[in-house]
Amino acid sequence: MVNTAHEMPATPAPPASGWRVPFVRPDLPTFDEIEPAFRESFASGILTKGPALARLEAAARTLTGAADVVAVSSCSVGLALGLKALRHLQADTNRREVILPSFTFLAAPAAVEWAGYEPVFVECASDTWTVAAAAVAAAVSPRTAAILACHTFGCPCDLAALSALADRAGVPLMVDAAHGLGTTLGGRQVGREGLAQVFSMSPTKLVVAGEGGLVATSSPAFAGLLRELREYGNDGDYDCSLAGLNGRLPELSAALGLASLSRLPAVVARRQAAADAYLDVLHGTPGLGFQAIPAAATSSWKDFSITIDPDAFGAGRDAVRGRLAERGIDTRAYYSPPCHRMPAFSRHHRADHALVVTDALAACSLSLPMGGHVTPAIARTIATEVLDSRR
Ligand SMILES: Cc1ncc(COP(=O)(O)O)c(C=O)c1O
Repeated sequence: MVNTAHEMPATPAPPASGWRVPFVRPDLPTFDEIEPAFRESFASGILTKGPALARLEAAARTLTGAADVVAVSSCSVGLALGLKALRHLQADTNRREVILPSFTFLAAPAAVEWAGYEPVFVECASDTWTVAAAAVAAAVSPRTAAILACHTFGCPCDLAALSALADRAGVPLMVDAAHGLGTTLGGRQVGREGLAQVFSMSPTKLVVAGEGGLVATSSPAFAGLLRELREYGNDGDYDCSLAGLNGRLPELSAALGLASLSRLPAVVARRQAAADAYLDVLHGTPGLGFQAIPAAATSSWKDFSITIDPDAFGAGRDAVRGRLAERGIDTRAYYSPPCHRMPAFSRHHRADHALVVTDALAACSLSLPMGGHVTPAIARTIATEVLDSRR
């Protein structure tokens, strides 16, 4: 299942002293590309709710094929407002719980709480590291309000199985698609599946707006609620019936996001080349594991992560991290600790409900530098440093 298309092998150059590879470097358009839109904004004085926002939303609708896309100030705000809209629609029900993976970024359970729901953490699959459909099925109850999956590290979650489960339970499927711009399934950009998928345009993502989020939805009515909620909950008459917040995306960010979106195919291709180079060196090494990308899918490679079995590899995750840091290579231990063990959320987790795969992944996964600054040659050098860290 792992994509291992190779490039011409190149001998990695030994790192010179002072060699540094940041974990991420924003993949920005040139200033010339965004200058006309910035000039338009400055000339018109329109800094919010203007033509750049409309152009970005239209481009994202075309890309995702979703019925509508609502741009917001961040993915976190998009998740919180999306769930808040759902809470409004479910106000007369006992549906209070949102099922989500624990092996994910903390913004998801935080949004669940902001919207007035309780997170129910479930297990992820040991191969794709995305939420396990069987675990979601086992957690569904009459109190279930929604399923909130995630395209973890850019690998699409099991949209077919989760959509079927959500339909059977009579609840919506939403996706934390923060890593999903550049992720495809069946040859198409993800985003049209489920009730809503929420993308991020923060500096660590493939499409960068400075900060920003895009909520792609299959429901025009839901999009209307989101537009009201991102505007304090004001539907225009200043007689608010729905508590929202200021979740607007400024024009300058929308213009940057739009220019960045147009570069997405090239950005994905560079990440794919880096992932191929990492795999070229590391795949087959005893003790190392890789995220399995389903055959019909491609990853955005928002992150390239490996797992390290200390006994079989000869060094543990933290030792490898330390050695790479000494060599100027910046890494992350995503997602350690997992959400169900964080002080903010652990009270929602039942002690008798072990998340064995999640805990194991959190203990041994390591995310390596990824982005336009990681050329295939640099990826090979980093991979060689990973192997050398056994000494
Ligand atoms: C999986 C995931 N969800 C949500 C977010 C939050 O996105 P934002 O920073 O746009 O709020 C992030 C940010 O990195 C993320 O990685």
